[in-house]
Amino acid sequence: MRGIFAICSLTALLLAVAQADHHLHHEAMKCHAISSLNADFAFALYRNINGRTAPGKNIFMSPLGLSAALSMLSTGARGKTQAQLFSSLGYADLDQARVNEAYSHLFQMLGQSQQEQKLDLGNSVAVRTGFNTLQTYRTDIQNHYNGEVFPVDFSNPSEAVGKINRHIATKTQDKIKDIVKDLDPSIAMVLINYVYFRGQWERPFNKNLTEKADFHVDENTKVEVDMMKKMGRFDYYHDHDNHTTIVLLPYKGNTSMLIVLPDENKMEVVEGFINKDYLRHWHNSLYKNNLNLFMPKFSISVDTSMDETLKEMGITEAYSDMADFSAISEEIKLKVSKVSHKAVLSVDETGTEAAAATTIEIMPMSLPVDMRLNRPFLVFIIEHSTRSIIFAGKINNPTAA
Ligand SMILES: *[C@@H]1O[C@H](CO)[C@@H](O)[C@H](O)[C@H]1NC(C)=O
Ligand SMILES: *[C@@H]1O[C@H](CO)[C@@H](O)[C@H](O)[C@H]1NC(C)=O
Ligand SMILES: *[C@@H]1O[C@H](CO)[C@@H](O)[C@H](O)[C@H]1NC(C)=O
Repeated sequence: MRGIFAICSLTALLLAVAQADHHLHHEAMKCHAISSLNADFAFALYRNINGRTAPGKNIFMSPLGLSAALSMLSTGARGKTQAQLFSSLGYADLDQARVNEAYSHLFQMLGQSQQEQKLDLGNSVAVRTGFNTLQTYRTDIQNHYNGEVFPVDFSNPSEAVGKINRHIATKTQDKIKDIVKDLDPSIAMVLINYVYFRGQWERPFNKNLTEKADFHVDENTKVEVDMMKKMGRFDYYHDHDNHTTIVLLPYKGNTSMLIVLPDENKMEVVEGFINKDYLRHWHNSLYKNNLNLFMPKFSISVDTSMDETLKEMGITEAYSDMADFSAISEEIKLKVSKVSHKAVLSVDETGTEAAAATTIEIMPMSLPVDMRLNRPFLVFIIEHSTRSIIFAGKINNPTAA
């Protein structure tokens, strides 16, 4: 029944440790003001993570989830700590109040999802019992980041791990259960960002047409996948000059999966230049074309440790003893100890029989073009009303867990 379903969760652990100011002005800003900056951040993130990912491994993450989590963190930061977070996010020309407004608006827009599409994005903060956070911080994250605060007794680490993991599991409909493995008893707080998405294809695949087929992970490796098939008119574009083919698969609601299939042996070339401008160019170039689309059914779960990536992207102070999170708490010095990110994606035919029965396609007047996702491809799950890249990834091997 579920067509695609994706979740992601991020945890920033703040540790108690042995050892600013900026002006805010309140000006209403639509979330579109950060969408372009977030898209640049998404590709910078992708590039860095891709550089650390072994060949043949899948990449899957939520750039929007990370941007939101780091913005929530920066709300509590001051001085150089805040400035680094902001410039890495691409927000150097904005101030925190404007960014907070943008996220309020974004959460509000995303909250309007309908029954067929479920998209929950939010933040939670687990705070050590007896540890006081500033009221302004709690108010900010509640008002702007769809955030809630709950107390945890970190002096009992296994109980704390259980409580936090249960919280994340509830927020992600049980899809992410074990992101936190162990906790240092000296932890002061844990920031949790979760994204849960379950969409149904606007036009499901017919299960009867799914067949076993080869997927070529690389020149020497092939794996067998369940290859779904759908014939019909798709938003399609073949960019000959840029060695790639694009297809857009809409979900019910305001969300679509954009697939970028590089020509054979061109993945690295495409990864070398891809950015938000190419994505926009491809999106704007789509036209309705008759296709036989072959797409593997898959389910992947990817854990990404973000620390080295974030440090390379300029966020160093937050991890150091110089960290300034005085807007979270004045009574105790905090720093970030760990940022973990986990995202899960599963793609199938998504169809109730009823839905499948209604998917009558217009007979093509011309011969359909074959588009076979039988080699590594890129996926972007895009939310149109906020122009956000909710998820981004590379499917190198649909059979790898
Ligand atoms: C799939 O096959 C079954 C059995 O042959 C048939 O009853 C059903 O209508 C088919 N479904 C679709 C969507 O074609
Ligand atoms: C992409 O294609 C355009 C022409 O359509 C070309 O001008 C541009 O240089 C290409 N980009 C790359 C990176 O090859
Ligand atoms: C799509 O976004 C618009 C706002 O741009 C909103 O009014 C509408 O409810 C959204 N539809 C769904 C299905 O989420």
